[in-house]
Amino acid sequence: SELVGDVLVFLFDVYKSITNWMNNQCSDLQPHEIIFMTLITVCALLYFYNLLFDHDQSFAVRAKSGFFYHVKRLPIVRSIVAKQMNNVLKEVSAEKLFPLKSGMGYMGQLPEHGRSEGDIDSMVEEYLTLDEVEWNKGNVSGTVYGGDPQLTDVIARVYKKFAWSNPLHPDVFPALRKMEAEIVRISCNLFHGDPQTSCGCVTVGGTESILLACKTYRDWAYEKGIKKPEMICPVSAHAAFEKAAHYFKLKLIHIPCDPQTRTADVGAMKRAITSRTCMLVASAPPFPHGVLDPISDIAALGVRYGIPVHVDACLGGFLLPFMDDAGFPVAPFDFSVPGVTSISADTHKYGYAPKGSSVVMYSEKKWIHYQYFVSPDWQGGIYATPMFAGSRSGAIVAACWATLVYFGREGYVERTRKIISTARYIEAGLRKIDSIFVLGKPEMSVVALGSLDFDVFRLSSELVKRGWNLNNLQFPSSIHICCTMLHTSPGVADRLLRDVAESVDIIMDNPKAQTTGAGALYGMAQSIPDRSIVTEISQSFIDALYNTGHHQPLTNGNNYAH
Ligand SMILES: *Cc1c(COP(=O)(O)O)cnc(C)c1O
Ligand SMILES: *[C@@H]1O[C@H](CO)[C@@H](O)[C@H](O)[C@H]1NC(C)=O
Repeated sequence: SELVGDVLVFLFDVYKSITNWMNNQCSDLQPHEIIFMTLITVCALLYFYNLLFDHDQSFAVRAKSGFFYHVKRLPIVRSIVAKQMNNVLKEVSAEKLFPLKSGMGYMGQLPEHGRSEGDIDSMVEEYLTLDEVEWNKGNVSGTVYGGDPQLTDVIARVYKKFAWSNPLHPDVFPALRKMEAEIVRISCNLFHGDPQTSCGCVTVGGTESILLACKTYRDWAYEKGIKKPEMICPVSAHAAFEKAAHYFKLKLIHIPCDPQTRTADVGAMKRAITSRTCMLVASAPPFPHGVLDPISDIAALGVRYGIPVHVDACLGGFLLPFMDDAGFPVAPFDFSVPGVTSISADTHKYGYAPKGSSVVMYSEKKWIHYQYFVSPDWQGGIYATPMFAGSRSGAIVAACWATLVYFGREGYVERTRKIISTARYIEAGLRKIDSIFVLGKPEMSVVALGSLDFDVFRLSSELVKRGWNLNNLQFPSSIHICCTMLHTSPGVADRLLRDVAESVDIIMDNPKAQTTGAGALYGMAQSIPDRSIVTEISQSFIDALYNTGHHQPLTNGNNYAH
């Protein structure tokens, strides 16, 4: 206690000498001067605090984009950029990107008179002549995960029965409600959710599932009094998390991945946690490299700091639960890991259901109520929906249910075995080819490759020439194949390996040659420091999707062709 007394006396002395010093400094000042200087100082501090920290994007990112924004407004730069951009944007048009068959035109107006059934059928056939990519032969990475012709018939029959149904009206469509509830329960059980507390809902896709989870945790954070919630995502996490940050005013904190394993750097995630953190993200697997983030470690951080953890299993969702039985054991990834509070899993990927369905699940009911939207006072009646959509397609939900039932557990295990065996076969084959390397340790259906000897996008362009449609990835430059049922057909994997080996041979004749084709565009886009240019070109690409060129005048109602 004598020590405490000494410390107090010492602190008091320090305090007195500081205040004495301050009083001396101010002795010549008028009271109003002191008041004004204090005000100005406080305002300046607040200004700099806001500038540096109080923003959805980091100061560095804003400083960089601000710099380019102002440089581009300089008259000389402006005219050069405008000229270059016009040249590029000319290439980004429907005429260039999506040319029609000669003689085909766009329909811009309703046909004056309705068409007969036969007309519609022949019009559809004509439109389909535009589709030349042979996805059904396994030429495309990911995209179509099942494509089973027999299942197509089942789905079409089910679709017909539910074509006019809408989950928004469970009183009118109770059969549909039962199906949707069963999809959620089946999924929760697959992911070892507690039978009493786990819950979820069917959404229209992985992006919606992710957006909903982010919205849930944001609202939870708001309730806790966090005014500017932050979410921590590995850079490999899906762009949908960035979309969520963009829509919901969340601050996205990106953490790096290990350059060797390509999995989330848990140490960096731990260091990024603050009192504002509202969620941690792990992917199973991340889309780019098909590895598995250290989910147990990330979930342990969640438990330790009381932060919810979302596992994005959109891609791996309906492979992972069957991996053990298929003979490819993986580390725990689901609700059996303490700390995992939500999971997104796409039925429209490896669930093999038609596009337009996904599931978002929570470990406990307390979370999902943050997801719901209720308007108790709407003039149209008390309005309550669990997700973003109001009316939705009931037929897609019914088709998803039918798909799950059609395959059953055994069917999924069998398909998982086929797909993973194929991916492992492709991985082993690629590892034998010189001058390229496989990124990380692929745990599931995605195998990514890069090269230290040449620009890997050249390989991508060579493969395009040979009829392959793989995915280009950036930061680092790499390409990947996402194996689906369509790659398990005999000969497809060998065809790919042969084409990669032959392409690499051709490239290695002249490893430093310039990249051409779509791959060149990708390499260039990565090297542009001003990301707003890439954004602008991408916006033009989206515009081009809706571009119908010069609308043809309506003649005799026969305006869809010619
Ligand atoms: C496909 C995917 C998503 C969501 O994509 P949707 O196209 O909206 O279904 C999310 N995360 C990962 C890892 C994915 O592969
Ligand atoms: C699909 O890939 C094979 C093998 O590479 C190729 O021969 C075929 O032409 C491709 N199909 C199309 C439409 O490009």
